[in-house]
Amino acid sequence: MAPSDNSLSGHKIVDEFLKSPLQVFSMGAAIEIGLIRLYLDADSYSLDGLSERLDIDGKGLRDLVEILSAYDMFAIRNGKSIATSRCKEVLKFYDLLKWKVWYMHHIYADMMNAKGLILSDFDIRESKIIDLWDYSKEPSSLEWVTFMRTLTKYDAPYLIDAVDFSQYKDILEIGGNAGELALQIAREYPDSRITIVDMDTVCKVGERYISSFPQKNQITFQGKDMFNDELDGKKDIVILKSVLHDHSESKVRVLLKRSYDCLKKGGKILIYELEKINLTDRTAIEDNLMYITFWGCFKVPGYYQGLLEEIGFQDFRTQKIEENGFFILTARR
Ligand SMILES: C[S@@+](CC[C@H](N)C(=O)[O-])C[C@H]1O[C@@H](n2cnc3c(N)ncnc32)[C@H](O)[C@@H]1O
Repeated sequence: MAPSDNSLSGHKIVDEFLKSPLQVFSMGAAIEIGLIRLYLDADSYSLDGLSERLDIDGKGLRDLVEILSAYDMFAIRNGKSIATSRCKEVLKFYDLLKWKVWYMHHIYADMMNAKGLILSDFDIRESKIIDLWDYSKEPSSLEWVTFMRTLTKYDAPYLIDAVDFSQYKDILEIGGNAGELALQIAREYPDSRITIVDMDTVCKVGERYISSFPQKNQITFQGKDMFNDELDGKKDIVILKSVLHDHSESKVRVLLKRSYDCLKKGGKILIYELEKINLTDRTAIEDNLMYITFWGCFKVPGYYQGLLEEIGFQDFRTQKIEENGFFILTARR
């Protein structure tokens, strides 16, 4: 299944540029000094011209361009650095490239500093990357929210392709972050009304982000604690995307029960999560290195189905999305 928005398909090429620490670090340096961005405007620059434009030492810059040429970003000919076709392809997803590189820097630093602790314990508390999720902190909170929003920009189209949301007018998205999934649903379904519950700081970022889109009146943010504050009821559907894996089973039970209570009779819950990764599969673990701190947290759909059954949900449907490794689980109140 290809995502409905053609401009978003093909984004997996980004991962091909993030396969090794050296790739991540050289790409990160090239993004930071503004080198990569230049190729959004033109296909080729003289090496001397680049050094002048970026106001950067020519020798260091040449080394960086050479390293990136080893990874097929540039071809170097006659003193010029020329964007390859793969470079042009990956630049269509510059936002994803930039934010994945940003995150992978944290992952590699964490892996090295933790000296394997993440791997031996499968315990995200050993990871420093957890500091990024402290939404009360600035500016890391903003960076994390934008990172999450960018990932969701590319994962949402698969969900929207797979589910007919026309039957759900009144939608509640719990932990909806800056509203990226809501925005994509609103675009596709102009009659839908989506309420997002998330932390206050995150909602503020989301309100600012959504305000520039024509769909802004379809989306409402409510800065609330999803575990404790009162949530609106009588919804047609409650969506939980990439929220449950962050929490212990007891907290997941609370969230699922609260979702049940927010639904009208016959309303649906929809869980959209990355499926448990097969750690004996080299391709799977290498493709999902970015999520290493969560490897121990992802579940199979049957796990959530069991919890939903206990609460009284019925009519379970599971769909797997091969392209991104996610599953969609829906159930009816
Ligand atoms: C991993 S992110 C997923 C965000 C979004 N669903 C997506 O996929 O892009 C988890 C979200 O849950 C939110 N969250 C965590 N704890 C929360 C709480 N107690 N109340 C409200 N939102 C919370 C976070 O702010 C964050 O936006």
